[in-house]
Amino acid sequence: MRNLLLRLLDLPGERTQVARDVDSLHFFVILTTMAGAAFIAIAALYFMIRWHRRVPDEDARPLADARWRPPLWLEGGIIVSIFGLFLVWWLIGASQFVRIRVPPEHAENVYVTAKQWMWEFAYAAGRTSQTTLYVPAGRDVRLVMTSRDVIHSFYVPAFRVKQDVIPGRYTTLWFHADAPGRYPIFCAEFCGTGHSRMLGEVFVLAPEDYEAWIGAAAIDLAKRGHEVAAAKGCLSCHSTDGTPHLGPTWAGLYGSRVPLEGGGTAVVDEAYITESMMDPLVKVHLGYTRIMPTFLGRITPAETAAIIEYLRALRDTTPATLQAPLMGQPHRPEERP
Ligand code: CUA
Repeated sequence: MRNLLLRLLDLPGERTQVARDVDSLHFFVILTTMAGAAFIAIAALYFMIRWHRRVPDEDARPLADARWRPPLWLEGGIIVSIFGLFLVWWLIGASQFVRIRVPPEHAENVYVTAKQWMWEFAYAAGRTSQTTLYVPAGRDVRLVMTSRDVIHSFYVPAFRVKQDVIPGRYTTLWFHADAPGRYPIFCAEFCGTGHSRMLGEVFVLAPEDYEAWIGAAAIDLAKRGHEVAAAKGCLSCHSTDGTPHLGPTWAGLYGSRVPLEGGGTAVVDEAYITESMMDPLVKVHLGYTRIMPTFLGRITPAETAAIIEYLRALRDTTPATLQAPLMGQPHRPEERP
């Protein structure tokens, strides 16, 4: 049945659990709506034949003549069950949506840069690749994506995942491929004359093959991040061991929730870190002076990825001393979400 539906709808094979779940909901919706439509069509046909006009100019029989009228509980029951069906779809869909959107805690990060008209991938171990994305089978992979020019959309039909890739912003997507194989990547957002040629491939490798491939790179992205941070002057304001300084310490910062100037809080993730580098005055950490310069145009996407990876590496570093900002209100150490 499932294979028949896949073939009828011309869907590629399902290579992730998410793909199977998405298809199950898809098939459930299609089959129930088709059954409903068939029921209505058959009922309409029956009524047309049963009550068609038999004599020319025959008057319609008044309703009062009808021998049977459905009781109120039946009418109410039909309305409630149709509403209930929609509610079931919504509940399944909402829970799937949350699962598809929220990446597992320890997913492996791959940084994706889209540009007219190709895909570039940077791995945490320091390797890079173009067009072909290498991932291990049976592990959670999280893509942190941005665009250098216009809006693109990263789409892997076999995984049933698709996400817009937007300039000036980071979007994420995650998947867990079942088994080794090669699957096409498409750009699913019209991005110029080369849009239809903006193709790629996900190459899912057996974990040992992936380790061998990734291990061929000598540099460690987090280490590179430390070098970039030192070269760009980040470390003259941010400490990496919890020592109070002009800016918030990077020790244990990633993944924490920080208070913002003007109220509210922000979770320190790729999006917040990137925004703080490119547009530092938008969300200022409460208690710090507004002295952070913008790095827009002064740092490449690869360097940005390296710095983020460095902050991630420092996430479990416990601040050595209780961090106290130089100005403003005292504040507690960041709480973990
Ligand atoms: Cu990139 Cu379409």
